[in-house]
Order: sequence, then structure tokens, then C-alpha cells
Amino acid sequence: MRHMITPFDFSVQELDSLFDLAGRIEADRSAFSEICRGKKLATCFYEPSTRTRLSFEAAMLNLGGSVLGFADANSSSAAKGETVADTIRVISCFADICAIRHPKEGAAAVAAQFSSIPVINGGDGGHEHPTQTLTDLMTIRSLKGRLNDFTIALCGDLKFGRTVHSLIHAMSRYQNIRFLFVSPPELTVPGYIREELREKGIPYEEVIRLEDVIDQPDILYMTRVQRERFFNEEDYVRLKDFYILNAEKMKRAKEDMFILHPLPRVNEISVEVDSDPRAAYFRQVQYGVYVRMALIMTLLGLADNA
Ligand code: NCD
Repeated sequence: MRHMITPFDFSVQELDSLFDLAGRIEADRSAFSEICRGKKLATCFYEPSTRTRLSFEAAMLNLGGSVLGFADANSSSAAKGETVADTIRVISCFADICAIRHPKEGAAAVAAQFSSIPVINGGDGGHEHPTQTLTDLMTIRSLKGRLNDFTIALCGDLKFGRTVHSLIHAMSRYQNIRFLFVSPPELTVPGYIREELREKGIPYEEVIRLEDVIDQPDILYMTRVQRERFFNEEDYVRLKDFYILNAEKMKRAKEDMFILHPLPRVNEISVEVDSDPRAAYFRQVQYGVYVRMALIMTLLGLADNA
């Protein structure tokens, strides 16, 4: 049985097949509308989410399957003190596959250990968010036609942003990638990730001002400051508007650069940028559904004959 806990759970070749399948789904959605008939997806969300949970649910419904679950820890037995290990053993009796989001790092890995159904990590604290990364890679591959030979800038909260951590891990397996990390000094990429990049000999640069590097990237990945992971509100207030991407700054960006954002956006991208053809963050949401459809099919063993 397979799970998706970190992007490393799939090899680069397996990811390629997944994106090919997602591309086929995009081209002809109706051909896949019955493939999960009779199958159930449980969404166990211990932390607020709209797009990730709904994206999983839409994906399963598009495949003809059904969904059950909870959207808030207070409405689950976690409020009574049940462990994730016990919850997943119970959920395994109700559903064929489970997507879990939890505020604690490592929760999805624990769930996978005790589960008898495939587990998908829908975000574990500030750690990883692999299906957002599949979405990001699928978007980049569709817009650019490749996943190598890039300068990619990640801007904002690189310390707590789990989508950032998963994306760096995933991109570091492709050829000729250079990272630009743009963050305030308090929100830099965690040391363990910098170390991994150094070990692999992957070039990266850390800068504070977006203006200083905006002319360089092929992909600009903007993120919000992760308020819920701060220890005090003052620090959040001081840092929350550190970056605001606007039309003026976009003038100096490459013509063929694309802006991605995992959403939700707060203030970091001014709404005037939405009409720029390089703004790809809403298209990205659509790719997220196709890629989750492909992932559900793959983990349920339904991809090979499709
Ligand atoms: C991200 C998350 O939950 O980590 N959102 C998402 O899943 N699309 C990013 C964020 O909350 O900033």
C-alpha cells in the first residue's frame, strides 16, 4: 500500500506518470467520471482549510466516488482526546483512502503507520504539504513545458510555509535549478533545508528585498506570512506586509515569468496584478483538482488501466 506523505514518496518518473495522467484528465474529464464509483474518500481536517479540502472532495466527486469526513478538530473525537493513530484505524473501516491535515508536524506519517488505507498528507503543521507541491509542479510543467532549467524565487514566509518546504524538496530533484530565497531575516528557510541543498550542490541565494532580484526568476512563488504559527501577534503585525507585489514591481520581471501562490492570499499580491497574464495562481487551483484526481487514482491502484 502506498501513501503520499512527502514529495519524496514518489520518484521523478512516478511523478511524470502522475502529471501525464492529470494532463489526460484535463483534456477529457468525462472519461474519468466513473472510475472511483463505489469508493470513498475520508477528509480528516484538524486545521482550517477551504481550498485543499474542497479540492480533494471535488477530485473524488469528479471520479464518481463519494466523500465523508470532518473539517474541524472540535467536531471530531480529537476533542475527546483520541489519538491520530486510533482515529485512522477507525477511518480505515469507513473509507478507501484518507486525506489528513493536522497542525502537528509528523501527524500524517503517524497516521500512515497505523492505517490500512492509503493516507495523503494534506499539510502537517509547518512541515510539508505534498499535494500543494504536486499542484505547483503540474502548473509549472503545463505553463512552461518543463520542470528543469529554472531560476525559481520563493518569497515571503519561508520559515513556517510548508508549501515552500515541500516545493524546494521536490524541485531539488530536477536538473539545473537555482533558488532565490526572498524573506525577512526572521523568516528564512529552515537550516536543515539549506544544508540539504548544500549537500546536493544546488545553488541558492538569500536576499531580503524582492526589488533586488525581481528581474531574475522564471517562476516567482509568493506566500503569505503564516500567522497561526507565530508565537506572538506583534511579530506577525510587524512582518505581515513586508512584501507586496504590485504592477510597478512587475514591470521589471521577465515577460515569461509566472507568479504562483498556494493561496489564501492576504496582502502580498496586490489585486491589480491579477489581470497580468503572468499571474497564474487561479489557474493553479484548477490544476490542483486534476492532480489530486490523478493521485487518488494512483494510490487506489486504478491508474494503470485508465
Ligand atoms: C497553504 C497551506 O495550508 O499551507 N494553503 C493551501 O493549502 N492552499 C498555504 C497557506 O495557508 O498559506
